[in-house]
Amino acid sequence: MKALILVGGYGTRLRPLTLTVPKPLVEFCNKPILLHQVEALVKAGVRHVILAVSYMSELLEREMRAQEQRLGIKISLSHEKEPLGTAGPLALARELLTDNDEPFFVLNSDVICDFPFDDMLKFHQQHGREGTIVVTKVEEPSKYGVVVYEGETGRIHRFVEKPQVFVSNKINAGMYIFSPAMLRRIQLRPTSIEKEIFPVMAEEGHLYAMELQGFWMDIGQPKDFLTGMCMYLQSVRQQAPERLRTGPGFLGNVLVVRMENVTVLGEDVIVNDELYINGANVLPHKSITDSVPEPRIIM
Ligand code: GDD
Ligand code: MG
Repeated sequence: MKALILVGGYGTRLRPLTLTVPKPLVEFCNKPILLHQVEALVKAGVRHVILAVSYMSELLEREMRAQEQRLGIKISLSHEKEPLGTAGPLALARELLTDNDEPFFVLNSDVICDFPFDDMLKFHQQHGREGTIVVTKVEEPSKYGVVVYEGETGRIHRFVEKPQVFVSNKINAGMYIFSPAMLRRIQLRPTSIEKEIFPVMAEEGHLYAMELQGFWMDIGQPKDFLTGMCMYLQSVRQQAPERLRTGPGFLGNVLVVRMENVTVLGEDVIVNDELYINGANVLPHKSITDSVPEPRIIM
């Protein structure tokens, strides 16, 4: 299966974090934002990830080549000459998306949750229409795309992007699965999927909503980024508390890695949470999954 991630522009709202690192590589709870998504996609059977970007970044390209090797998948960068919005990138990547007739995932790159990709695929296959979007409930729906749907079947009646007046508190969580037939709706020009495509699909009965369980956050702005980290850590507390640090001096939900002596991590080294690294020299692109109690070189 395939997935396209809408990575978009420079992430100006996350400055100064994004002054030195492209937005998808900004670390969120010890791991680049993008890797939270890509690893969850791989778990659900995705073998080809397409990153839709409207800027060039050598750093991102290099990092993605390393991740291709580490995860054993293909990662393509689909580069827009002008920003194509949230739908245009699907037309640009049309050939990559349609070399088989399987449904494919599409994600906003700035959302975090317990990604429900297996459930999305099942739900999508059950209703058999062109699109499924994941919905969640928020207190301030006016900042998002709002969805009105039938509780029983999930069939969406209305999709309104950033409504001025209250419509509903169920919103688009920025994760979709589409059948290839949906691509006939999109031209190669700047297009908003939320304003120009979803309302029509809803009217034609081709768009269904699947409700998300658990936490969700759009982490594209500093305040929400912090709130998102608290939510993520709380969810780790509930599902895998052994991943969190405990003991004297630790209050609340804390993830750490302890490094001692002269420890040097090469580029793109990933160290799992809660490990102890003593005097290790780690060569680039390695993943450290166990503690290193005595000094050594890891290649
Ligand atoms: N490749 C590409 N090109 N990506 C783009 C472009 C573009 O021209 N414009 C935006 N994106 C990417 C962004 O980087 C982000 O990952 C995603 O598309 C959505 O854009 P945002 O700018 O973050 O939109 P939003 O947060 O205001 O609203 C969207 O997300 C909400 C959920 O967080 C909408 O999809 C709403 O309906 C939704 O509720
Ligand atoms: Mg956003």
